[in-house]
Amino acid sequence: MAKSFKELFINNEKWVQSKLEQDPQYFEKLSKGQKPNFLWIGCSDSRVPANEVTGTESGEIFVHRNIANMVVHTDMNLLSVLDYSVNVLQVKHVMVVGHYGCGGVNAALGNQQVGLIDNWLRNIKDVVRLHKEELDRIEDPVLKSNRLVELNVEEQVFNLSKTSIVQNAWAGNRKLRIHGLVYDLKNGLLKNLNVSMGDVAALDEVYVFSPPPASSGAA
Ligand code: CO
Repeated sequence: MAKSFKELFINNEKWVQSKLEQDPQYFEKLSKGQKPNFLWIGCSDSRVPANEVTGTESGEIFVHRNIANMVVHTDMNLLSVLDYSVNVLQVKHVMVVGHYGCGGVNAALGNQQVGLIDNWLRNIKDVVRLHKEELDRIEDPVLKSNRLVELNVEEQVFNLSKTSIVQNAWAGNRKLRIHGLVYDLKNGLLKNLNVSMGDVAALDEVYVFSPPPASSGAA
């Protein structure tokens, strides 16, 4: 089952051949540029590949992945991907995609130190604290973990909506929607959590920015 490093190149050549058989211009067309409609913010987990589970091709989804699909406001990597995809690529949908059985979420639910990652997963512990009442009522550890996966996705959608990047797009009347999805490793299905947002209506007032002032040109 486990492939060798060398096999990756053998498979790559086969893949190039099969693409060229379908469309001799496949790579030439793709090399000219990209215009994806979607930004996917998913978990780094090797079992949740964005293109494969959505039946999309190269060029269709801009992808950012980190452990437990987090939107952390001090993460320059995430913010750069978000800004570039919203303002330059002009994607129409941003989706946070969690998955049941997420090791990061499970680690955050527990009290054991794992290593450096504890500091990253600490953000999920805030989600646990926010929803403590509901989570405490769930006794089954798998169901509790599954619910936290969903709640964590929902919080990351809120985190997206709190960024000036997303709010400025909405203020500029851009048709940008942000969504929360969960992938089920056990059956391969993507579930829409129906927590989509297209404006700041659901946000606490303190998170809503006034539109940026028009530049006066004065130094
Ligand atoms: Co995960």
